[in-house]
Amino acid sequence: MESLSETSPMITTPLRDIPGSYGIPFFQPIKDRLEYFYGTGGPDGFFQSRVQKYNSTVFRTNMPPGPFISTDPKVIVLLDAKSFPILFDVSKVEKKDLFTGTYMPSTNLTGGYRILSYLDPSEPRHAQLKNLLFFMLKSSSNRIIPRFETTYTELFQGLETELAENGKVAFNDVGEQAAFRFLGRAYFDSNPEETKLEKNAPTLIGTWLLFNLGPILDAGLPSFLQELVFHTFRLPAFLIKSSYQKLYDYIESVASPVVKQAEALGIPKEEALHNILFAVCFNSFGGMKVLFPNTLKWIALAGENVHTQLAQEIRGAITSYGDGKLTMAAMEQMPLMKSVVYESLRIEPPVQFQYGKAKSDFTIESHEATFEVKEGEMLFGYQPFATKDPKVFDRPEEFVPDRFVGEGEGLLKYVLWSNGPETESTTVGNKQCAGKDFVVMITRLFVVELFRRYDTFDAEVDGAAVTLTSLKRASF
Ligand code: HEM
Repeated sequence: MESLSETSPMITTPLRDIPGSYGIPFFQPIKDRLEYFYGTGGPDGFFQSRVQKYNSTVFRTNMPPGPFISTDPKVIVLLDAKSFPILFDVSKVEKKDLFTGTYMPSTNLTGGYRILSYLDPSEPRHAQLKNLLFFMLKSSSNRIIPRFETTYTELFQGLETELAENGKVAFNDVGEQAAFRFLGRAYFDSNPEETKLEKNAPTLIGTWLLFNLGPILDAGLPSFLQELVFHTFRLPAFLIKSSYQKLYDYIESVASPVVKQAEALGIPKEEALHNILFAVCFNSFGGMKVLFPNTLKWIALAGENVHTQLAQEIRGAITSYGDGKLTMAAMEQMPLMKSVVYESLRIEPPVQFQYGKAKSDFTIESHEATFEVKEGEMLFGYQPFATKDPKVFDRPEEFVPDRFVGEGEGLLKYVLWSNGPETESTTVGNKQCAGKDFVVMITRLFVVELFRRYDTFDAEVDGAAVTLTSLKRASF
């Protein structure tokens, strides 16, 4: 296996022109979009077939949405663990207005503001707003464990009741209710379901996310309808205004301590509120909506043996290191649990796309070749290929629960879900996820709460939907 740890500045592979072409403007981008969404194997098949055709993990293609939503769909695709990290180097790539790719949703969807996720670190507001979110996360730190325990106990109790009645229970919808309830309680010490929002937040956010991400999502609709409604024209923002306002009113009613800090940092109140809303509803809730069912799915598929090991490790550490209470110190003593969380983030990164625009001419290197990139060209990484690179990971397509235990920890630098290596830290100077540590912490809590309560469980999986078919209560 190749060691990529000390990537030398010396070029060691032959220079090659970047293969692939963009084809006839307007027509080829549409053809590529149709193949991406509806071709054999979907997006994975789209990229895999080109890797084979060009015999390269770096090539040129168009990315959706293309006409009429994005004016320039041309990208250079990076599909291996060696070339991908160029996207994290903000001295080489600009990260302005490309959070969602080759188009940017209307700022009418975000109160008229360009939100933090769309800002390049060179813009002064980037550091101010990122510091504000660090403040929000830090002030919630004492609430994370207790509010998580409360909320996920409620969730599991509800799941058990319905499972007993119907013989099975769908996880996703109730899981989303729990996710938003937990976020309100952790960030703002407020249960959103006891406010005017009631239980509506997941639906309100879901629709708003669709307005933002529709151009690049496969909502599972018939292709002609999906192409017309989501992939060809933008949905008008006014249709979602009243839903967004409800979320804004909730955030305004609970986020006063964060707003006060914003004003101290020089950020006007309204801009702060729209940014807090985005961090809570898009970044945090949107992330959990994908990550938690995925993690549950992979653990379900791992089977009873792994479940037993997790239950033993988790319960043992809580007894030995936390005196029967769940503490941060006890969680540190759960190597298998920690590895399972990283493996879930590796095998199915919740955010699959990363973009960056070359700030100057430079070279990028795959395992096989070196390529010249010109200033202004758009680089695009499809993360599942980078974190399943067979040159870095053994059995890359397999969920290996203890992959990151012991010596395996050395592979954490190739876990990239946060838009950066897992071994590096988010700062105001980079574009790594502001919630990196928070996300790892709550996903660990999810696995811990699951195996404090159950010895094992079964689930059926259908695409993103996870349905529990058995939950065996803890017997030791
Ligand atoms: C950025 C993933 C949760 C706040 C990002 C990026 C990724 C990501 C991939 C980089 C996007 C890019 O620029 O290309 C995730 C995932 C999450 C999650 C998978 C959950 C499963 C959170 C949470 C917060 C957060 C809980 C809470 C504050 C942010 C912010 C940025 C960001 C503010 C922009 C950072 C910057 O501009 O420097 N996240 N995130 N995210 N994330 Fe997260």
